Amino acid sequence: MKLFDTHAHYDDVRFINEYEGGTDGAIRDCLNDCVGNIVNIGTNLDNSKRSIELAEKYGEVYASVGIHPSDAILYDDVDFVICELEKLLKHPKVVAIGEIGLDYHWDDVPRETQMLYFRKQMELASKLDVPVIIHDREAHGDCLDVVKDFPNVKGIFHSFSGSPEMATELVKMGWYISFSGPVTYKNAKQPKEACKVVPSDRILIETDAPYLPPVPHRGELNRSTYMYFTALQLATERGVTIEEIEKITTENAKRVFRIE
Ligand code: NI
Repeated sequence: MKLFDTHAHYDDVRFINEYEGGTDGAIRDCLNDCVGNIVNIGTNLDNSKRSIELAEKYGEVYASVGIHPSDAILYDDVDFVICELEKLLKHPKVVAIGEIGLDYHWDDVPRETQMLYFRKQMELASKLDVPVIIHDREAHGDCLDVVKDFPNVKGIFHSFSGSPEMATELVKMGWYISFSGPVTYKNAKQPKEACKVVPSDRILIETDAPYLPPVPHRGELNRSTYMYFTALQLATERGVTIEEIEKITTENAKRVFRIE
């Protein structure tokens, strides 16, 4: 079994400090186990560059580059940031702009700043014809409004936490929906319902490692191998085999990221 992890943060300080062998140890252990590919996700300019370094080091690893809403506070010149991202996007192993979006849970950055960086990065995606990875935390309505303003930009709603109705609406608009550890949580009704309505050619799987470990690994450092439990849950909810989940999520990941 080889699963495609569409969203992980292996450069995170927690892997460096808490995983034996650090970032490289964690990536190697996963690739030697049930993991075929990983997209390492940027949340600011520094770790976007680190994502590219990891993608250069490992054939199976790809990178995305972007400014997370909570990291928008690091910068005071959005045009400079967009210019830097545009340079990074020329790298052949950069497959998306992300993660970008809105976070009204932590709400640690003024909403107008979050919105400015979100929209500017959507403009960049439109200009360069690159898929995006959307972080939408308790901001479903505003995220939908923004993506509707950019009808030619498509990509992934990552670690989806919206309703089945929202998933259906996004799929109709051409988006992919990615599920992570919370789909295994007893109280997570929304992702459990949503994962049933996403068509086979639009569903993706991810970890968001080191965050959001699935049951039975809650409280641990998440890693791509634990995606097995998320895949098992998706198989159960959808009434298919885990091999079928492996096949469709890998095909979909390669299609959305335009990997040969
Ligand atoms: Ni993330």
